[in-house]
Amino acid sequence: MRKKVIAGNWKMNNNLSGAVELISGIKNGLADFEPQADMIICPPYISLETAAALIKDTPIKLGAQNMYFEDSGAYTGEVSAEMLKSVGCEYVILGHSERRTIFNESDETINKKVKKALAGGLKPIFCIGETLEERESGVTNKVVEKQVRDGLQDISESDLANVIVAYEPVWAIGTGKTATPEQAQEVHEFIRNLIKELYSENAAQNLVIQYGGSVKPANAKELLSQNDIDGALVGGACLQPDSFLDIVKSS
Ligand code: PGA
Repeated sequence: MRKKVIAGNWKMNNNLSGAVELISGIKNGLADFEPQADMIICPPYISLETAAALIKDTPIKLGAQNMYFEDSGAYTGEVSAEMLKSVGCEYVILGHSERRTIFNESDETINKKVKKALAGGLKPIFCIGETLEERESGVTNKVVEKQVRDGLQDISESDLANVIVAYEPVWAIGTGKTATPEQAQEVHEFIRNLIKELYSENAAQNLVIQYGGSVKPANAKELLSQNDIDGALVGGACLQPDSFLDIVKSS
């Protein structure tokens, strides 16, 4: 059985003191139960180092929300994989739909980032998903297949073992509209079959595929009980300790 992985994508929320408060809340909540799922928090860059210190000796793991694919140099505003490692990150979200749409990241750029993250010892949370228009015109699988093929191009099977795929239908992100468990399961199964075709049965069975898009305590259990849904990438609902932990408890 694959262990569930619940990741909180804080996006551009919380300054340093807000981050300290949220992490303290999560830590306090953890005193009451033994989490069955792996937990990752992904605060903004400015809070990563502090977060790493605060979650030391807890089961919570740390991720960043993005990075650049070069090692160093004249790339104003960017951070490298090595920099993220140096402040204690183990994970990095790559190819989030907000990066794809607002910051024009292409599959090719995301593929470079995934490769660089892996080479630098970070585990990518590699995001894919279709827009509403794409879903309504019946091309969801086609879109997702292209994102997987292009985003994971030239990634070896041993490297793939360090990749989490997050299926996040764009129309469900931050909208309150969640994919039904059946809709999500259908795409997750499609992704797992595609990984089997591209790699192997073993790679497909071991791959953690998270669902993301308006996951909240009220819908987490049903989503997470689907065969091929191995966790959640949570935006809005991860900004309160209780709702984040309630989702963890649903696993
Ligand atoms: P949401 O965001 O839970 O607020 O919909 C999910 C995400 O973008 O990762």
